[in-house]
Amino acid sequence: MDNNELSNELKRQNYYIELCSKWVKSKQERLGRPLTCTAKTFGCQMNSRDSEKLLGILLDIGYVETDSEEADFVLYNTCTVRENANLKVYGHLGYMQNLKKKNPDMMIALCGCMMQEADVVEKIKKSYKFVDIVFGTHNIFKLAELIYNRIESEKMVIDVWKDTDMIVEDLPVERKYSFKSGVNITFGCDNFCSYCIVPYVRGRERSRRPEDIIKEIENLVADGVVEVMLLGQNVNSYGKGLDEEITFAELLKRVEEVEGLKRIRFMTSHPKDLSDELIEVMKNSKKICRQLHLPVQSGSSRILKIMNRKYTKESYLELVDKIKKAIPDIAITTDIIVGFPGETEEDFLETMDVVKKVRYDSAFTFKYSKRTGTPASKMENQVPEDVVKDRFDRLLETVQKISSEETEKRVGMIMPVLAEEINSHDSTLITGRLSHNTIVHFKGTPDMIGKIVNVKLEEANGFYYFGKLWVTERA
Ligand code: 5AD
Ligand code: SF4
Repeated sequence: MDNNELSNELKRQNYYIELCSKWVKSKQERLGRPLTCTAKTFGCQMNSRDSEKLLGILLDIGYVETDSEEADFVLYNTCTVRENANLKVYGHLGYMQNLKKKNPDMMIALCGCMMQEADVVEKIKKSYKFVDIVFGTHNIFKLAELIYNRIESEKMVIDVWKDTDMIVEDLPVERKYSFKSGVNITFGCDNFCSYCIVPYVRGRERSRRPEDIIKEIENLVADGVVEVMLLGQNVNSYGKGLDEEITFAELLKRVEEVEGLKRIRFMTSHPKDLSDELIEVMKNSKKICRQLHLPVQSGSSRILKIMNRKYTKESYLELVDKIKKAIPDIAITTDIIVGFPGETEEDFLETMDVVKKVRYDSAFTFKYSKRTGTPASKMENQVPEDVVKDRFDRLLETVQKISSEETEKRVGMIMPVLAEEINSHDSTLITGRLSHNTIVHFKGTPDMIGKIVNVKLEEANGFYYFGKLWVTERA
């Protein structure tokens, strides 16, 4: 798709936003109250960012955001990476059916990864007829058009694309936080890990042009953002397919130059593509946070091969060593799956060994979940549930013990913290994050939010710290 077509698409969508906003206005007048909307997001950072874009469109149309699901427009941005994510959505839908009976003006829209699965859409068509709009991950920019079609047609509108090469820039976005933002750099995934549904629901990997990324970040900074999280399923392979030859490390160098930007994060890194150049750039950077999310998935080279991860236990550990040598104070975090088909006790102990050797600052641990359509779902020797549970519990215990020991190590240090929000339990406390991504609570005032302040870490409590604001006297 060329630039001309993309700018036409943007115009088309702005036209639909206008049409919908006229409709919202007249409806508001008729009802004598504002129309409300809410977006419920399941799953990963990518979905959170998509929801900010979807909410941006809804607010532009004239809806007013509310937290409650008793809204006039309820959007579920779904995840399908594990089965229980799907079950949660069906659970919510049962509840929504009752709410819609009370408010017939309500519109319900479903989008996200789960909608990219044909059998899910069939089930919704058949058993959840009260749903108004169903769309997928490739056409979120079309929300206004889909709403307009729904108003016109009085029928469920379904628009799910298999894939796309279209990246529509410059649509409205409603950020959850004023001072930090996700920024997509790639969409989709080409890795086909054998357990993972993402390549099937998010399509082939596409990179955004560096100038579009930089322009977006400059605009965000002008709007008060100090921290960006560069998002992609595998950020390390950024640049594939672009006219300009550029690596992820080079992109980071350009992002670093954006004046006023204070912190850069990124996720997710695939170990097989993490370059020496990237380590060098991180080491020399003043802005890239001291945290690296490096999913290992399993510590057994045998299982890693069947997972199609394209690295071994040894090469992963070597990579971690290299990173730690270059950047000694880095926090390494990870994702681990237990109970992949055929995983033996020996394989599992290899995973435990990696956890003990790397000493992750934190780890997301998952029980393997069979996703229809992936190669692993057809593998025999699925591991019995009780065995998976036992391994999962042992893993979690070890991960938590190591993580709290690692957290403890920084007690006594004075470190910069980005103040993020008023603590939900105690409004005299501010909650923020270290460059290492660990949470810190400290006595403070709401005017600090969005600023980086120095905090003395006084007490570690498992995954987080209590600290004290540290103001140095100037002579
Ligand atoms: N079962 C369990 N965990 C999974 N993940 C991806 N697919 C599955 C699955 N089928 C986990 C991986 C990935 C994280 C986002 O979700 O650990 O890194
Ligand atoms: Fe899934 Fe693997 Fe792609 Fe990550 S890299 S999204 S785990 S296929």
